Amino acid sequence: MSKEGTVKKTGKTVTFLLYLCSLVSSSLTPFLHVQTCLGAKKPFTEVIKANIGDAHAMGQKPITFFRQVLALCSYPALLEDSKFPEDAKQRARRILEACGGHSIGAYSASQGIECIRQDVARYIEKRDGGIPSNPDNIYLSTGASDAIVTILKLLVCGEGRDRTGVMISIPQYPLYSAALADLGAVQINYYLDEDNCWSLNITELRRALSAAREHCNPRVLCIINPGNPTGQVQSRQCIEDVIRFAKEEHLFLMADEVYQDNVYAEGCQFHSFKKVLFEMGPEYSNTVEMASFHSTSKCYMGECGFRGGYMEVINLDPEVKAQLIKLVSVRLCPPVPGQALLDLVVNPPQPDEPSYATFMKERTAVLSALAEKARLTEQIFNTVPGITCNPVQGAMYTFPRITLPQKAIDKAKELGLVPDMFYCMRLLDEEGICLVPGSGFGQREGTYHFRMTILPPTEKLKVVLQKIREFQLHFTQEFS
Ligand SMILES: Cc1ncc(COP(=O)(O)O)c(C=O)c1O
Repeated sequence: MSKEGTVKKTGKTVTFLLYLCSLVSSSLTPFLHVQTCLGAKKPFTEVIKANIGDAHAMGQKPITFFRQVLALCSYPALLEDSKFPEDAKQRARRILEACGGHSIGAYSASQGIECIRQDVARYIEKRDGGIPSNPDNIYLSTGASDAIVTILKLLVCGEGRDRTGVMISIPQYPLYSAALADLGAVQINYYLDEDNCWSLNITELRRALSAAREHCNPRVLCIINPGNPTGQVQSRQCIEDVIRFAKEEHLFLMADEVYQDNVYAEGCQFHSFKKVLFEMGPEYSNTVEMASFHSTSKCYMGECGFRGGYMEVINLDPEVKAQLIKLVSVRLCPPVPGQALLDLVVNPPQPDEPSYATFMKERTAVLSALAEKARLTEQIFNTVPGITCNPVQGAMYTFPRITLPQKAIDKAKELGLVPDMFYCMRLLDEEGICLVPGSGFGQREGTYHFRMTILPPTEKLKVVLQKIREFQLHFTQEFS
């Protein structure tokens, strides 16, 4: 890579910028009008995208077994090909048997293919140490996004002070604020505690709830664990406290658990809300209404494009459930290839099957590399003056705090930009690193952050961290 170079794929640069905008709040729209530098000489030869949680786009390889079965499902003539292992063929035959006309090109039941819902229920039971899961409570979805929006649609109603309020964490994953704005729901912000590894604090939940009761009807509490964009993993105690709070306040719990395999920090463990709810006893497990979400897009799979996912609902009133069925029927069914992929995620190769060894090797390689990159990111950022980074306990992101000199803040204001957007724009322009400004996720007034994914391959991530370090130093110097 030469030090000086022209960014040839200028069209792509524009796309990144626009995508970056699509991820951030509408308050940042002025950025859309910033001129990009098409064809200009740049001191880098490629733009490194560390802005989106899209593992395959960042070079992660698909799990062989998954793609073998999907290839067999898509083109069943391959079932005669001796290059495919027997367990892959057997899975493909089972999935095809369950499809209309034995084709993944057919519509499925709106709730999802029955035998796949059964496999999901078995997966949940195994994950949660035997706590029963009923396939009737499982709804397959088009990624987790579709299921999250569906539940919000189901729960949002009322007018004026009676309008549904939905509690979301700040910083938040923008799907939530966008869906709430679309549905005209009232967004209730509760702040995560940056000084304590972005933990969730019940006192803060109470503060946010009682303030919101003045102007809306709070009915839903959304939790993301492990967290996006903040990378924290909630303790079991914290989950219990949240469940107790939801029961006391009659809130519907939405547990977004799409990063359930992405836990890296020592002493941290993923606890599903469902498991904790049931372990708290019937007083809770028979009363608290909840939906939890999972996806094929994250963890070690990273298969975002297949749009696979599911939700499990608990304690839903039968009449509400009937409305939910109607709601999911409107979109006919989730993509069947995504459902097939989900089936493999919840029912992967077993130790006595031919694909097991390769599957485990590939899965472990992805998760170990992510764990190493999580450590590296925290370590390096915390050596940079003006950057403070919490441990990346889980998920795929870091959300470090940046100290910006007053002159940089003034300059951003002069340009009509939010200060951390100005910082990210300058970083993109000078170093070719694409991050998302913290303001796109929400942050405490007067603080500035960016979100960076830890998805670039390790060697590239090291380059990214080094470039951000150099940029931070000279940006601070320039505006001091
Ligand atoms: C916390 C969280 N929830 C949901 C989603 C949506 O994922 P998908 O719709 O691809 O399953 C994402 C994607 O990044 C996410 O980070």
